[in-house]
Amino acid sequence: MIFLLLLGCSVDGDKAHGVADPTWSADVAPIVGKSCVGCHHAGGVGSTDFTAYATAAPMAAAMASYVAADIMPPPAMDPTCREYAGHERMVLTAAERETLANWADDGAPEGDPIAELTWAAPALDRVDAELVLPTAHAVTPGADGNEYYCQVLDNPFTQTTYVTGFDVLVDQPGVVHHAVLAIDTSGDAGAWTGESDLSDGWNCKGRITEDDWSMLHAWAPGMEPTAFSEGLGLRVEPGDQIVLQMHYFADDADAGTLDQSGYRLRTADSVTTEVYMAPVGPSGFSLPAGDVTTPEDRYLNEYGIDVTVYGVFPHMHLLASAYSAVIESPAGDECLAKADAWDFGHQATYLYDQPAVWSDGETLVTSCTYDNTSGNPNQYNDPPQAVTYGEGTTQEMCFFLFYFSY
Ligand code: HEC
Repeated sequence: MIFLLLLGCSVDGDKAHGVADPTWSADVAPIVGKSCVGCHHAGGVGSTDFTAYATAAPMAAAMASYVAADIMPPPAMDPTCREYAGHERMVLTAAERETLANWADDGAPEGDPIAELTWAAPALDRVDAELVLPTAHAVTPGADGNEYYCQVLDNPFTQTTYVTGFDVLVDQPGVVHHAVLAIDTSGDAGAWTGESDLSDGWNCKGRITEDDWSMLHAWAPGMEPTAFSEGLGLRVEPGDQIVLQMHYFADDADAGTLDQSGYRLRTADSVTTEVYMAPVGPSGFSLPAGDVTTPEDRYLNEYGIDVTVYGVFPHMHLLASAYSAVIESPAGDECLAKADAWDFGHQATYLYDQPAVWSDGETLVTSCTYDNTSGNPNQYNDPPQAVTYGEGTTQEMCFFLFYFSY
């Protein structure tokens, strides 16, 4: 242990400490450029523009305090659990946080002037197919504001194809709460509704398509494109129905909004490993009013096969505050997902740098923590009320959508 501590100090000595006398140009702008301006530019979702010293410097104290309070950048999965693509941008190191704090304490010095910061919106490196709702859908929320709408998209593939990257085209961000892309392999998507004409789509709360379906991708607000590494992809056959489920959440004023969302896909004719997606996590729970509760689910691999896990999309709703997914093994636990803070408006699919393996005999333990007290700033009931499990925005879910192969 002492050896490890010493090693930690000597190797990470520079990394663990921020710059003592930082300037905007030399030290702060690189951090802000990497982790903030993607949202904080003129017209971006972050209300203030940090691309230039002149607009960033007056915000220095607020920047440092939001960072110190773990509010900004918005919470993401903890990379000490497992490293994933983009974590260098999404999570600041202790040294970077200290540099920002020192800069604010010193009165935000500029240094030698530099050009304004630029950024590139994350995008797939290549788009091979674009699939959108065949007609714009007029959003028709139920009494609780939710609508679940499914529609079959044109399948553009004439041979077996593997999807290697996903980028959602959100048409009306103000009303789109989530999107799920799935395939139905037998051509009877939506038959369960009993409707004879499904050409205008169908209402699909709780159930997307028939039993012979599988998920390709899920999207929630804040998510960037999902791009798999070379050799990995999800299979789509020419005869598959490609189904898009849209979850809309709208008040009366937004009812009738026309939405024509869809997906951009990167594809390949062949892959070395076929990847699947499946949800794991506790369900059916209830969250008592005024309590912090952590529903948990334990899932034993008793299939005699090793499951390789490539990434995860953790999904919860507004009252969530933390999540964890761990493979318990006598050889030592393996972390798949962990965060001690949650922001519904900033969700992500985390694709691991190194896949994990869930071996026969090992238990996958998933849990989510919900703060159903009046102290939760996202609390929407006054006073707090019991909240049930469900898909609605004012219900709660605990989904870990894993990408895996056998
Ligand atoms: C994924 C998008 C995103 C990223 C990345 C991001 N922010 Fe923000 N930030 C926001 C949004 C959205 C708000 C407005 C929140 C609100 O008003 O509720 C905000 C608000 C703020 C505020 C409060 C002042 C204001 O503009 O409303 C500060 C300060 C801030 N962010 C600092 C940072 C810093 C520093 C970073 C980088 C280390 C960062 N943010 C990264 C989205 C982001």
